[in-house]
Amino acid sequence: MSSSRRDFFKKVLGTGAVVAGLPACAPDIDPSPVLDVPAPGEDGIVSLVVPRYPDLSRTGGSVTLRFPGGSGQENLLVVHPEENTYAVLSATCTHVGCPMGFDGKEAVCPCHLSKFSITGQVTNAPATVPLKVYVATYNAGTQVLSIALKSGDTTFPSVVNGTLTLTFDQFPALRDVGGVVSGRPTGYGKTVFIFKLEDGTYSAVDSVCTHTQCEVGFEASIDGLLCPCHASTFTKTGTVTQGPATLDLKKFTVAENASGVVVTIT
Ligand code: FES
Ligand code: FES
Repeated sequence: MSSSRRDFFKKVLGTGAVVAGLPACAPDIDPSPVLDVPAPGEDGIVSLVVPRYPDLSRTGGSVTLRFPGGSGQENLLVVHPEENTYAVLSATCTHVGCPMGFDGKEAVCPCHLSKFSITGQVTNAPATVPLKVYVATYNAGTQVLSIALKSGDTTFPSVVNGTLTLTFDQFPALRDVGGVVSGRPTGYGKTVFIFKLEDGTYSAVDSVCTHTQCEVGFEASIDGLLCPCHASTFTKTGTVTQGPATLDLKKFTVAENASGVVVTIT
């Protein structure tokens, strides 16, 4: 994000309150209806018996899954664009954090008309950052949709026995002061940032913003982390430096050895 856009956030959207305002030309689309669901179990699987939810079972339908407060799980937009086809995305627009709706084909933000394909790609600005997409499997026989919240990037190492191992051979940026590596490990399901700090030590922090669970990104111009939703900023060690977030990012323990770093994922 450019510094001018960040300044815009600071001046206009810093409190986040303005996101509730709709432009005069807002389309006739609402956020998808909310469905409260229990917190996922240890395996991170959420299963929905689709016929129980009329808003989702009709083709073109959608729901927003909301998890209990304190679970740390962001709201999910579950969409049903075609018969026996479902997709699951973050329910929070990456522009400035409005709850998403669905027009039968694409995810649509009612606030400023950003659109996203069901694979999360931006198809209409002002949003520029894709929506996070979750792995979901639909069984047409049982009509159960299973959402794997802990699924991650296939190109990134997985969490094994509570640890994430990154070798210097795979991630040479971790050798260099100022180096940053990020990825979504299977077994955790959320993006993790690992930094080599100026004093030669390492830091690993979660990407989930403590304001309303948008995903922060690394912003080189502030040498830290910036939330695209309401412009909270954090240091590379996770300390909040600008609200509306008031709590630091979740931090993980990092140990260095001869071949790389080991992050303890909790
Ligand atoms: S919050 Fe502005 S387009 Fe979604
Ligand atoms: S979710 Fe609001 S600042 Fe991050």
